[in-house]
Parts: sequence; C-alpha cells; structure tokens
Amino acid sequence: MTHIEQLAQQGYAEFPIPALEYKLLQHAMYVFMQTLEIQHENLLETQFLQHKNLENQTPLGYNRKELCVVEGQQQSDPKWYCHFHPAGRSRISDLVSAYNYNCIKEFLFYADKVYAYAQETSVTVLKQLEREGAEGLCAAYIRDGIIPNLILRFLAYDLQEHDGYFTARGHFDKSGGTIPLFETSSGLCIGPEKNGATSVVEWMRTKTIFMAGLAMKEYFGLTPGWHHVQQEIQECSGRGAIIAFIDPIEPYTVTEAEAH
Ligand SMILES: [Fe+2]
Repeated sequence: MTHIEQLAQQGYAEFPIPALEYKLLQHAMYVFMQTLEIQHENLLETQFLQHKNLENQTPLGYNRKELCVVEGQQQSDPKWYCHFHPAGRSRISDLVSAYNYNCIKEFLFYADKVYAYAQETSVTVLKQLEREGAEGLCAAYIRDGIIPNLILRFLAYDLQEHDGYFTARGHFDKSGGTIPLFETSSGLCIGPEKNGATSVVEWMRTKTIFMAGLAMKEYFGLTPGWHHVQQEIQECSGRGAIIAFIDPIEPYTVTEAEAH
C-alpha cells in the first residue's frame, strides 16, 4: 500500500524514519513544562505576529487557551502552548536577557534540535508523497531544501479528569500537514473521516506518522486525518505533546488547528 493509500484508509501514513532520540524529545518536553513556571505575563511577552497583514493568524511564542464552554458543550481544551519558528525565536530569547531565565535558555537549545529534525523528517515525507503522485507538493512547500512554514508546537494541557479519561475533542487540522513528534502518553486516535478515529495509534519510538491537513486536501487531494485524544488518567497525570505543522509557501500563512 502506498503512503497516499494509507492516508485514505487510516487517516495517517507511516514512515520507517528513525525517530529522533526519544530521550531528547522527552527532555525537550520536560524543559518546556518547566518554562511554564515562569511568570505568565512574561511568557506572553514572547508573542509575535509573523505576518503583519494576515488575518486570523496564531502568534508565534507562548500562548494560553482557556476552557470555553458554550451551552454545556466544551469548545476548547484549556492549555499552554508555544509556537516555535526561527522568525519568533528572538522574542523568546529576549526573556533570557531581560530576566535571566535559565530554563528558557535550555528550552531554546532543545527546541532548535527538535526543529532541525522536524525539517528533515517533513522534507522526506513530502518527497515520498510526491514520488507517489502528489505532483507539485515539494515545490509548494519546500524552498532551498527547507520548509519555510514549519512550526513546532510544544503543548501542555491542563490537568483534567473526566470519567477517568483525559480527552481532547476530535478535529481535522487546518494546516497543510501534521507530524506528531512526541506525546507524554499514548492517546492519539486517528481516522480518515469525520468522527472516524476509533482506536489509539501506537507510534512513538517505532515509526513516524504523518497526517494531511485540510489545506493539503484542498490543493493535492490527500485525505486529511480526523483525530482526537483519549488518554487514561493515571493519578492525575497531565498531557504534553510536541507536534510539527507544515504549510505551503503560498499563501504564506501561520495556521491555527481547529479546536486548538
Ligand atoms: Fe490537531
């Protein structure tokens, strides 16, 4: 089965790319969690809008999303996240010069390493999909050997308990494509159609997985992955994840994933 067929059948494609050393990703996650102990107003100083005239863009840097409930329906999961991209790096490193936060210095060290890995992995995935027939994919995403619109999201959900499970609502990502790099516990469920994610995908340490987002469906006809999280709560554990999002060069957008 080709990777394009895998997307159509299961909502994600599997690649035998050696994962970045697990311990390095784990430590990057741990250091990110440590940075959340910093004064929150200082973290929010790192926000940076990359594209001055673009509407609905999610800022780079640290961001907070609060719980939102409308008519008894939970609309968003409360969480902290940081969007990491070279264009916004200096806003984060300003915290080191202004407040001497060592954990930020350490976070940047690891974020740079994870970013380089995410670039390499994403380029490999796009080249393979193009070889299988997604014509024009590489030209749309890659320039000078890298993907200019690749963003890392470091994510930490608030502790949550609901019938013994942590859950994040199902959605398609709006981004061109998504590569989950790390999760603190299994729980990611993926399917090829809306509400079609039925079982937990075990992927970490064994393979790299790729999901197409809605933008990739629109331009290249690739099946996007519907996904949600269902993680069993063990003694009030939280959930953290590191995810790479890629977008095409044109339109040059920083996208926000649905329900994130
Ligand atoms: Fe998502």
